[in-house]
Amino acid sequence: MNSEAQKNRQITPLSGQNSNKMSTHTQEACPQDKSPQYRCPLCKTPLTANQQGFSCANRHQFDRAKEGYVNLLPVQNKGSKIPGDSPEMVISRRDFLATDAYGFLQQAVAYTLKSLLDKTATVIDAGCGEGYYTNALAEQLSEGQVYGVDIAKAAVRYAAKRSKAINATKAQHFCVASNINLPFADNFADLICKIFAPVEPTEIARVLKSNGVFMTVVPGPKHLFELKQVIYEFPKEHQPEVCPAGFELVDTQSLTQTQVLSKTADIANLCQMTPFSWKIAAQKKQQLIEAGDLSITFDFVVNVYRLAQDEQTSCKLKD
Ligand SMILES: C[S@@+](CC[C@H](N)C(=O)[O-])C[C@H]1O[C@@H](n2cnc3c(N)ncnc32)[C@H](O)[C@@H]1O
Ligand SMILES: [Zn+2]
Repeated sequence: MNSEAQKNRQITPLSGQNSNKMSTHTQEACPQDKSPQYRCPLCKTPLTANQQGFSCANRHQFDRAKEGYVNLLPVQNKGSKIPGDSPEMVISRRDFLATDAYGFLQQAVAYTLKSLLDKTATVIDAGCGEGYYTNALAEQLSEGQVYGVDIAKAAVRYAAKRSKAINATKAQHFCVASNINLPFADNFADLICKIFAPVEPTEIARVLKSNGVFMTVVPGPKHLFELKQVIYEFPKEHQPEVCPAGFELVDTQSLTQTQVLSKTADIANLCQMTPFSWKIAAQKKQQLIEAGDLSITFDFVVNVYRLAQDEQTSCKLKD
């Protein structure tokens, strides 16, 4: 892929110093114990692995699917018949990410994690989609564990399948669940990331250890601006992320690349996976796809937060 790359680090780069890495030795579970540790979404007691899947002391049973994931989304919390991204969006994103157009972001996410945590850490990828970033995070944690959570069953199924294919199932665990009601105990994770996915800051704060890290990836100002120019008469830039309530920002980095997409399938998948895809008139979409080379800006911001230690440093929610 023809690419003209520029990588801007706007504020302080992450230290990358080993001395700053978080020790995870206070973790209750032995780092060598690779069985996933969930809590029951119904009664909140710990789940224990059994032959079929997982069960709690109150005999709530959750079976493991053949791909290896477990569905921990109670039917009453589904909200809709097919919650989260549709299977069509999942397939488009899976195929687009397979081109590695977002490889530079994947690397930055993995590097950020590596610079902050040691290899035994427990990490949650909240809204993991098809596991593109979850895989990269797990590669950094030879003795740790990464949990991928998504409300879309189609996405989790694919993520689990892929982790099985690369034989990473010991370090990666996938479940269908909502970020609003994460199936984990309090103070469980060293790092929670959310990459273009919705979360609830109070739920993140509950599950994160007190010295844990919350990493977010959001679109930068110019992300997909060329597509927006096709859709809107007056396209607007993305606004910066509002600091989640109860957290303080400790680092931010900006990543920008302009790439030329020349395959019609890649352009079509990109159009299909973006949230505003349905706003592109069918005719315009076809024109875009048939026009051939599409020069497009990928612009991301990676933010790193920690729980605020006191009221003064805590970010408040916007009214
Ligand atoms: C834009 S996609 C990003 C997926 C992945 N992080 C990536 O960047 O490839 C947003 C994801 O959030 C998931 N999602 C939406 N609402 C959710 C919720 N309440 N809990 C968990 N996942 C959710 C969607 O199903 C979708 O997979
Ligand atoms: Zn239970």
